[in-house]
Amino acid sequence: MNLELQTLTWAQAASVSTDALIVLVSQKSPKNTGVLATMLAQAEKTGDFSPAAGQCLMWWKPPGLQAQRLVFAGVGEGRAQDVRQAVTAAVTALKKTKTAKITICLQDELASHLAIAAQAVADASYIYTATKPSAKASLVTKLTLGVPDSSKSSGAFAVAKAQLAGVALAREWGNRPANHATPSDLANAAKALAKHPRISCQVLGLKEVTRLGMGSFASVAQASAEPLKFIVLEYKGAAASQAPVVLIGKGITFDTGGISLKPGPGMDEMKFDMCGAASVLGTFEALAQAKPQLNVVGLIPACENMPGGKALKPGDVVTSMSGQTIEILNTDAEGRLILCDALTYAKRFKPSAVIDIATLTGACVIALGHLRTGLYATDEDLARKLSEAGDHSLDLNWRMPLDDEYAEGLKSNFADVANVADRAAGSVTAAKFLHRFAKDFPWAHMDIAGTAWKSGAAKGATGRPVPSLLAYLLAEADHAKPAKSAKTSKPAKTQRA
Ligand code: BES
Ligand code: MN
Ligand code: ZN
Repeated sequence: MNLELQTLTWAQAASVSTDALIVLVSQKSPKNTGVLATMLAQAEKTGDFSPAAGQCLMWWKPPGLQAQRLVFAGVGEGRAQDVRQAVTAAVTALKKTKTAKITICLQDELASHLAIAAQAVADASYIYTATKPSAKASLVTKLTLGVPDSSKSSGAFAVAKAQLAGVALAREWGNRPANHATPSDLANAAKALAKHPRISCQVLGLKEVTRLGMGSFASVAQASAEPLKFIVLEYKGAAASQAPVVLIGKGITFDTGGISLKPGPGMDEMKFDMCGAASVLGTFEALAQAKPQLNVVGLIPACENMPGGKALKPGDVVTSMSGQTIEILNTDAEGRLILCDALTYAKRFKPSAVIDIATLTGACVIALGHLRTGLYATDEDLARKLSEAGDHSLDLNWRMPLDDEYAEGLKSNFADVANVADRAAGSVTAAKFLHRFAKDFPWAHMDIAGTAWKSGAAKGATGRPVPSLLAYLLAEADHAKPAKSAKTSKPAKTQRA
């Protein structure tokens, strides 16, 4: 989808020739004159439309307008979630029509929700095609964001563009079936990202991983016919002396549970067990576009969790890169086994913060459902920043506890630590396992088991938590200052993506 920013008042909107004009109407919209204002007043008078959030009214070939279709979409008080709800409703209605070009008119303060509106269009119009040749690609090819003064929105527009590209990449890799998204495929996707300036990529195989002592990671992969990959991405937007933020993404390309085999129904959804990895790839795509002044490292341990003659068995003890031994009581608790070695590896970057992103526990879905990501952090500042980034981008999270008492159940008679405790507080005990490997830097863990994908009729990856990761990183970099070699975006009436 092509994105464009334009200065657009209500009066100008009437003469915009587009397939569909979406006009967001808030309860506090100022009184306007002109054909749009007249139509709105009439529709409100007859009771056909009200500016309550989610209300929609569509016209076909509206008289006096150049647009083929017009949608009034109510945004109530004009909060970010209202804008998302309104745009989603409007685009869903338009999806049944022949709409390729959409123009959204955001008046006054609504312009501050540019990224939310653009993301809502992308989400509502997304169609998966990679392994479904019969599916027609999304008709929506162009989105114009109309704001009161485009020069004042050019920064927000750049962020919106970067976020959309990042979410799209994360969603695409999340959705691909495991036989089309192997560890090697993910490694190639990472290498493709390294074609962008400032991004480099290195991929380690079994030999290097073994030499590093990543016995925990390697043990998860040992029954799979697919070779494991340890992917190292680097984005260099600031001086080498500046400590990087390290992002670690769980890259289990398929989780059968291993010898502790998962039940059959719904097991296909374990192709989504690499959504943490996909979110790291997506965030790097977004960084390539937004070009912030900071350094970021992305680490992705990628492998399959399979049963078989060579598989890890309950009771086996493995040695992690940290030197700590781990008793495997359940081979289905494999995410923490690959992440712990990545956390140890992260130390070498002397990071300012380390954030791991993982579809780690079904227990997190029980705790928080599908709205908020579980957020754990050892550092108050990092927790606050990630929480604010989530709120800002509507990619919500919720802080969870890390009391040491929760680690009691991880004690083992045969190793330094067991990989599971009992069922109680399963998301927290998983985080406590990781905590043992994250003592040397400010650390946060995002359990995205409930938020990385949707089940049911709308089954598919969401691209979360790319929006909040990007918002956090841009805030860290103070995105007012683009990297040196980056083109400074000059205020222009129209910017093309
Ligand atoms: N990938 C799963 C977590 C998961 C399950 C995410 C369902 C989303 C939906 C993870 O590897 C796993 O299997 N976790 C176990 C841990 C248990 C064995 C302690 C779980 O949650 O059941
Ligand atoms: Mn598992
Ligand atoms: Zn898993």
